[in-house]
Amino acid sequence: MTAATPQGPRKGIVLAGGSGTRLYPITHSISKQLLPLYDKPMIYYPLSVLMLAGLREVAIITTPADQDQFRRLLGDGGRWGMRIDYIAQPRPDGLAQAYVLAEDFLAGAGSTMVLGDNVFFGHGLPEMLHAAAARPSGGTVFGYAVRDPERYGVVAFDADGRVLSIEEKPEKPKSNFAVTGIYVLDGAAPARAATLRPSARGELEIADLLNLYLAEGQLTVERMGRGYAWLDTGTHASLLDAGNFVRTIEERQNLKVGCPEEIAFHQGWIDASALRDLAAPYLKTEYGRYLLRIAEGG
Ligand code: G1P
Repeated sequence: MTAATPQGPRKGIVLAGGSGTRLYPITHSISKQLLPLYDKPMIYYPLSVLMLAGLREVAIITTPADQDQFRRLLGDGGRWGMRIDYIAQPRPDGLAQAYVLAEDFLAGAGSTMVLGDNVFFGHGLPEMLHAAAARPSGGTVFGYAVRDPERYGVVAFDADGRVLSIEEKPEKPKSNFAVTGIYVLDGAAPARAATLRPSARGELEIADLLNLYLAEGQLTVERMGRGYAWLDTGTHASLLDAGNFVRTIEERQNLKVGCPEEIAFHQGWIDASALRDLAAPYLKTEYGRYLLRIAEGG
């Protein structure tokens, strides 16, 4: 298969489906990606990553049952100078299914997808994403050193450091490099994903999709170095740790991590008066006063 020529500007996807069973009982009645991570809903963090990458057109993929709550939180994106669409994933049939579901939304465009429970922090992230997005075809993912690679997609390298394969949750990981939940893929992703067959656990695996790119010499694995934080939110303890991490950074710097209103303002998508309007209903909180301070140029 030849890679499709990217059509139109790259679009963003936040994949926020799934049943969140590993966080029961909390996620019985609320989507994991709406849980608080310190001072804001979890989805603000991956959405901020897309915004920092300059993407104004984003689709949020959720379970049908959770869609209304996401809509109530984010609306159509207009107040942040964005356009936010919603796509329902009826069953958690795998991460690669996102591309099949998003085919109409993407309409041939390349995409950057971030998993809705992935939190990233680090200087240079926008530049890293811009560089990946600038590749005219193929795909880019990011490898990050972790203690417990068996919980993730893992990069296998040959003796010369070339990528051999991506293995999903291997019992015996061939490296300690996990594939993070940011996928920068060209416009061929939906067509490629449509050729996948469900794995033994019944899912369209993102690793299988990445291996298709790899087999055609179309996959770049960038190392996300030790200066970045890629935080886990998959267990009760790691969720709390991630919240404490955000709190520590925010209190130290008096700057927010993953604040979409601030990013929209810095990107020039909204002006100071729009930012003041966004702050107005939040003024009982530190968050609202922060937005006001940013609007005043502070
Ligand atoms: C998924 C992917 C895995 C990736 C991880 C990143 O796993 O299947 O390849 O490394 O996200 O967060 P999950 O978290 O759905 O088990």
